[in-house]
Amino acid sequence: MSTLITNIAELMTQDAEHRVLKDAALVIEGERISWIGPSSAAPAADDAVDAGGRALLPGWVDSHTHLIFAGDRTAEFEARMAGESYSAGGIAVTTGATRQTGDYDLTRLALGRVSEAVSQGTTYLETKTGYGLDLENETRSARIASTVADEVTYLGAHLVPAGADADEYTDLVCGPMLAAVRPYVSWADVFCEQGAFNEEQSRRVLQACADAGLGLRVHGNQLGEGPGVQLAVEFGAASVDHVNYLSTADVEALAGSWAGWQGPGAEAAGAGSDHRGTVATCLPACDLSTRQSLAPGRELLDAGVPVALASNCNPGTSYTSSMAFCVTTAVLQMRLSVHEAVRAATYGGALALRREVGNDVDGERAVGSIAVGHRADLHLLNAPSATHLAYRPGIPLTHAVWRAGVRAR
Ligand code: NIG
Repeated sequence: MSTLITNIAELMTQDAEHRVLKDAALVIEGERISWIGPSSAAPAADDAVDAGGRALLPGWVDSHTHLIFAGDRTAEFEARMAGESYSAGGIAVTTGATRQTGDYDLTRLALGRVSEAVSQGTTYLETKTGYGLDLENETRSARIASTVADEVTYLGAHLVPAGADADEYTDLVCGPMLAAVRPYVSWADVFCEQGAFNEEQSRRVLQACADAGLGLRVHGNQLGEGPGVQLAVEFGAASVDHVNYLSTADVEALAGSWAGWQGPGAEAAGAGSDHRGTVATCLPACDLSTRQSLAPGRELLDAGVPVALASNCNPGTSYTSSMAFCVTTAVLQMRLSVHEAVRAATYGGALALRREVGNDVDGERAVGSIAVGHRADLHLLNAPSATHLAYRPGIPLTHAVWRAGVRAR
């Protein structure tokens, strides 16, 4: 089954050449993109969709969410808006509610959040455990996450639960809990921050999870400068997320981690995946909701660090799944160009999940960019260009969404 999308005013590919095509067309065949070119040269297909002079982008790749939770933190948000500052301790409130919620309701809540995200143009999504914080509930969270998200991250090291000894809890995270979640996850994360896990505990978590064959990511430098970024680079983590408080040495370490990388397409050309460094994932909706200074996305890009934008959808610091809101904020407040912001929310997210390349044979297709052979994850805006995402802030601009070639909206 093939579908021709024609009359695309602007096709922002976010491919290796950063191409932006005008008056373009595209063919979806099954779950893959099979042709891209000028509308005038479009081939025949089984089905046709007239884009009506709208802009087509890759679907958003949301590389950082926490969707497996129950309960509400409105009161904490109100207190923050009245002047209190965010602290990691709020996680315990969600943990209490999550533990009391059965599998059916936890799954239903998570699926509702995924469908909210997809209806706004998200086509590939990561989510984490981290509100279970004991063996039974982290395992349950991982299992449920594996049924609702494309990528699952183990975040047993989100907070030391009330009453537990930090080092004993770290032993649990690195031992029996890791073994129990392992069948459901491919990534591991640690919240390396004052009030959560210190450098030594974070190091133990990262080592144990790396030894178990998991890819790594780190919550780092959210509430102050600290060892998160340096640890992420040292362990070859795919991303370090938040990155609000960075020293010059942190930025240099992130840039240095990409020294052997030859740019988009290098891995596909056979350069090897270990050349990828650590992506800096900025979470602008979280920064606004916690009244932190925005992460220095402009400075990171200028230093040569690949940047991802993600929603960080969670009940404590960022209760939104709107990637468009993140893109708008990145343009208006972080001084990224529209092209850079869209790239960070598509290709950048894919790079942070190491899914920006994939072969065209066995179904592990690249996501986050539009090219022949890549997964047909597409986002048609109700606007003639991507610039409208920043030019018309707050306006819902999603017109249609294809996820792996299937019309999802
Ligand atoms: O990414 N920083 C740590 N974890 C989440 C917040 C979790 C919460 O407060 O519930 C975050 O912002």
